[in-house]
Amino acid sequence: MRVFALSDVHVDYDENARWVSGLSTSDYRDDLLVLAGDLTDRLSLLETSLRAFAARFRRVLFLPGNHELWVVRDGRDGDSFAKFEAVRRVAAQCGVETGPLREGAIVIRPLQGWYDGSFGTPSATLRTMWTDYRACRWPDGFDDARIAARFDALNDADEDFAADAPVRISCSHFLPRADLLPGFVPDSVRMLLPVLGASRIDARLRRWGASLHVYGHSHLNRDVRLDGVRYVNSAFGYPGETRISARALKCIHGDAG
Ligand SMILES: [Fe+2]
Ligand SMILES: [Fe+2]
Repeated sequence: MRVFALSDVHVDYDENARWVSGLSTSDYRDDLLVLAGDLTDRLSLLETSLRAFAARFRRVLFLPGNHELWVVRDGRDGDSFAKFEAVRRVAAQCGVETGPLREGAIVIRPLQGWYDGSFGTPSATLRTMWTDYRACRWPDGFDDARIAARFDALNDADEDFAADAPVRISCSHFLPRADLLPGFVPDSVRMLLPVLGASRIDARLRRWGASLHVYGHSHLNRDVRLDGVRYVNSAFGYPGETRISARALKCIHGDAG
């Protein structure tokens, strides 16, 4: 049994959707998949894609990214917290897990979150250009910090989940550390840092004792050890991101891990 990591498949792009439907239906039957968010904001397409993954892997763990919480395009009445619940219901209908899972010695724990200002304060320019500020809808009075606190509180219930397991893998859509953004990225990308992650995610995974953390969102292929924890980003990314994204399933544990 192997564990694979993948994020940011963005199946709204036909090319990406074709890659999913072209995945082998026999190679991954014994394997687990960690799917770290940003498949699509459209629930119908989300369902199609999650069913495709569920049909290929023994177990799939999915956690929503920021794109799943966009409500504007599908004309939904509810807010993005309601969309979060709707996304998790769709996953359950597809046989995809959204809570922590245990498989023998391996435990995989999702950490819900949102950017909270801990990586910096978004500039006026960033607030104008970043689609979440237009495409998500939150209850009155909810700013980034309050949104992040509400998602973070969802993790309390799993704080002690299988903390005795030999292999503890955590995952989040957002970056748990600002230094996961590589030094080579240009200022035009670095200015996104305030909306990329939250350091409370790192505090969570370290308190729990994860040795490996899978994250998405940045679309930057990464496999690095920092202060004793291995961090992996295996994003599929947008079609044009051929140089920065992994654009492949990455085995993070097992035969080739
Ligand atoms: Fe993404
Ligand atoms: Fe994202």
